[in-house]
Amino acid sequence: MQTAHLETQPLETQPLESLDQWDDAVRDRYDPNKKKEEFRQYDDKTPPVVREFYRQNHQFQTLDSVLAREKEYGSLQRGEMGIWEAMEKLNTLVDDSDPDTNLSQIEHNLQTAEAIRRDGHPRWMILAGFIHDLGKMLCFYNEPQWAVVGDTFPVGCAWSDRIVYPEFFAANPDRLRPELQTENGIYEAGCGLRNVHLSWGHDEYLYRVTKEYLPEEAQYMIRYHSCYPIHREGAYQHLLDDHDREMLEWVRKFNPYDLYSKSDSRPSMDELRSYYEELVSEFFPAKIRW
Ligand SMILES: [Fe+2]
Ligand SMILES: [Fe+2]
Repeated sequence: MQTAHLETQPLETQPLESLDQWDDAVRDRYDPNKKKEEFRQYDDKTPPVVREFYRQNHQFQTLDSVLAREKEYGSLQRGEMGIWEAMEKLNTLVDDSDPDTNLSQIEHNLQTAEAIRRDGHPRWMILAGFIHDLGKMLCFYNEPQWAVVGDTFPVGCAWSDRIVYPEFFAANPDRLRPELQTENGIYEAGCGLRNVHLSWGHDEYLYRVTKEYLPEEAQYMIRYHSCYPIHREGAYQHLLDDHDREMLEWVRKFNPYDLYSKSDSRPSMDELRSYYEELVSEFFPAKIRW
């Protein structure tokens, strides 16, 4: 049975010209060369389509919408596909961005992985870099952009004002459910992130698809790489446990490779293919469930 959100999405639920526009906005926000004054200007310089994207994301990521998607995708009933197949499929994502200046999805994955490899990190971390955005496959299931990308945040408890554009939560219907508006909401203090529902997107989806094949550090990198309110802003400490605190160090180690590995030189898939084929087959069977 098709649920409402899986019907073809009208254009107005796809405000971004390409998913990269969100990635670029995050990179811009956390630009290490940015001066203090410029941080305050962030908002004025943000493209209106990115603001519109966040407006929708904050309005529609409710506890119920997250639970529905966890249920729908968590059982991995969308068929079997190899990692390479997914990579190539994702690369066919047509967007309106300029192909001369924008990297393809594979190129971003490769640059992230290659930067990790150059720094001598373990093979599973290189692999995590290579696959970390494959959850964007959600686009092919007709999900609106707000359910594919975006900074993720806990749902089911009060929103932190350290989430970007907190004012857009005014339109989120969870606002009218007092039990979801306390500091801990439906959770217990110190319950650990594994018991917390985060806003739905490519991170959580890929975590569910790949978790049984990867070491836990890699699982954390994949699952929480967009959770800037926690790994970057330090919000929601009251929900974490000691294990999260230890593992989030790996997410922080990973994040600069995701944000800042973008360079003008385009990586050559032809030259790198055999290395990554071997790496993928070291951890994954030929096909996995999506
Ligand atoms: Fe991502
Ligand atoms: Fe990424």
